Amino acid sequence: MKYPIRIGTPLSPSATKVMLLGSGELGKEVIISLQRLGVEVIAVDRYANAPGHQVAHRSHVIDMTDGDALAALIALEQPDFIVPEIEAIATDKLVELEASGAVTVIPTARAAWLTMNREGIRRLAAEELHLPTSPYQFANSLAELRAACDVVGFPCIVKPVMSSSGKGQSKLNSSADVDSAWDIAAKGGRVDSGRVIVEGFIDFDYEITLLTVRALGSDGKTETQFCEPIGHKQVGGDYVESWQPHRMNPRALELAHETAKKITDNLGGLGVFGVELFVKENQVWFSEVSPRPHDTGMVTMASQIQSEFELHAKAILGLPVDLQLISPAASAVIYGGQDAHSIAYSGVEQALRLHGTDIRLFGKPESFTKRRMGVVLARGHDVEVARSQAKLAAALVRPLKTD
Ligand SMILES: Nc1ncnc2c1ncn2[C@@H]1O[C@H](COP(=O)(O)OP(=O)(O)OP(=O)(O)O)[C@@H](O)[C@H]1O
Ligand SMILES: [Mg+2]
Repeated sequence: MKYPIRIGTPLSPSATKVMLLGSGELGKEVIISLQRLGVEVIAVDRYANAPGHQVAHRSHVIDMTDGDALAALIALEQPDFIVPEIEAIATDKLVELEASGAVTVIPTARAAWLTMNREGIRRLAAEELHLPTSPYQFANSLAELRAACDVVGFPCIVKPVMSSSGKGQSKLNSSADVDSAWDIAAKGGRVDSGRVIVEGFIDFDYEITLLTVRALGSDGKTETQFCEPIGHKQVGGDYVESWQPHRMNPRALELAHETAKKITDNLGGLGVFGVELFVKENQVWFSEVSPRPHDTGMVTMASQIQSEFELHAKAILGLPVDLQLISPAASAVIYGGQDAHSIAYSGVEQALRLHGTDIRLFGKPESFTKRRMGVVLARGHDVEVARSQAKLAAALVRPLKTD
């Protein structure tokens, strides 16, 4: 893509067109930000009426892991930019299309390809960039897993190389846990490649997401900027609560910035990256990176002048970004709590009567017990107040079965 670009008129030949691959709650907010800038948006997901479908100019339902189906849709829509929102995409096809000059992938097709598989990004971070990470091994069978766990030691964590949101992940305290970890990984992997990573367990003090933004400066060169660190709490590998800012000591913050700069410089392109880091005193370990807005970053809809979604939309269009924090804030997840085709939310009014709160209901067409259906946001004069308000409010919102 040649910058600067001129944003055209949606639904006309001059339109600036963006195609979202994945249209969940994060994609929905990116789409809303793009809509505000007069961009024509095409939302793609694997099921109908996904959150982002409901706010885009057009929507499509395809299997995004099918490279031919993906290429056919791109040829039909001819977007100026392709914005992957999820990892489960035929990224090898995106690499091929980008190399032929047919598309611009955000941030780059290589970044999407490397981060969809834990092996690609881990080997890049640890073996090429020499960033501190947990010790790790890969395994393709139960026998290999046993050997790998012995090398890494206990406690350790086993994860399918292709999975997200903690799916298929387990913590092993001793060799007695190896068999069940293999079974859990086999069931939870996105693609049943049968390959897993074993990571040594890092006994961190806290973990953060460092939102890192690559955007064009006034001289037309790419600049790297950092949002305030976001603290978060994970249960079973899925985020339940996040807050910003998370105070860090100056040395740890400096190391966090250096780590995020190194990995994002290598991945390249423009946009927001969610760099996940573990911190213990002055030690910082790289865990993983999303080359896109991060779920824990939903808190920025309350804490920052421009949310991570707005930052992403602006950065990819080559526009200036403003990362300022406006208030300490927190987010708390609302889960479906049940399996149901259709649900309605009680308690929204009570939740919004609490001081400083706001809410996003994603509009997902089906509820599962552990499906993220919405999020409560809360501002406070410090993060502790914001966290307690967000948790209180989220507990008041109850999805009820309507069918
Ligand atoms: N090596 C480790 N040591 C200690 N804790 C870990 C380790 N790896 C993962 N965790 C914990 O599990 C959480 C989820 O791990 P990870 O981010 O690798 O999984 P994921 O499936 O990619 O999750 P998501 O897609 O939500 O980011 C981490 O945020 C952290 O709390
Ligand atoms: Mg993660």
